[in-house]
Amino acid sequence: MHKINIAIDGPAGSGKSTVAKEVANELSYLYIDTGAMYRALTFRALQAQVSEQDEQSLIQILKEMEITLEQQRDGDVQVLVNGERLGEEIRTQTVTAKVSEVSAHRRIREEMVARQQQLAKQRGVVLDGRDIGTYVLPGAELKIYMDASVEERAKRRHLENIGKQRPSDITTTKEEIKRRDGLDRERPIAPLQQAEDAVRIDTTNRAIEEVVVHICGIAREKE
Ligand code: C5P
Repeated sequence: MHKINIAIDGPAGSGKSTVAKEVANELSYLYIDTGAMYRALTFRALQAQVSEQDEQSLIQILKEMEITLEQQRDGDVQVLVNGERLGEEIRTQTVTAKVSEVSAHRRIREEMVARQQQLAKQRGVVLDGRDIGTYVLPGAELKIYMDASVEERAKRRHLENIGKQRPSDITTTKEEIKRRDGLDRERPIAPLQQAEDAVRIDTTNRAIEEVVVHICGIAREKE
């Protein structure tokens, strides 16, 4: 048996982070939430009042950020920037509204991708994001592309927000998801798309548990 790398991509609310977390837990792999890295940068840029369009200042901020993803006992990931813990502040609507613009810059992506590839070198990792199967780990042994209808994805995100006591409104959530999907799919560099060799899973009518079992089954055959 040898550890493999697993790439999970898909749009917002497709269920990929929940699934990635559980798959990693089940296989005793490391879960790497790449969206959290882009969110941490966006949060820091907002704090520094740097525009999402200002690539030069954004890269400067990123170069000074040591981003660590710390695995929690419950499988969740805690983001640390230069040793400081970031929690809910990277999931606010303000950060969500800017993150796709921040992450569209070429130099930002090059730096993030290099860091993610470094993390994946140890093998036995599950990375979730938008460009993992296509750019970050094109050689990953298992690639999954998860999708669901926009209605279902908005509903999930809305329920998650409520569960975490974040302010939420289903119509706004749906519009925000559609806007972010558009930006992530249409950017010129590493857009969100399914890798040719990815297994596509539509999670609209599927329970998370069932998807986790399915992915772990394929992973074990490849180990
Ligand atoms: O996964 P999450 O919704 O937290 O990601 C936030 C944003 O970060 C995405 O909408 C996308 O703009 C960006 N992202 C990216 N590439 C990744 C992961 C996230 O561009 N690998």
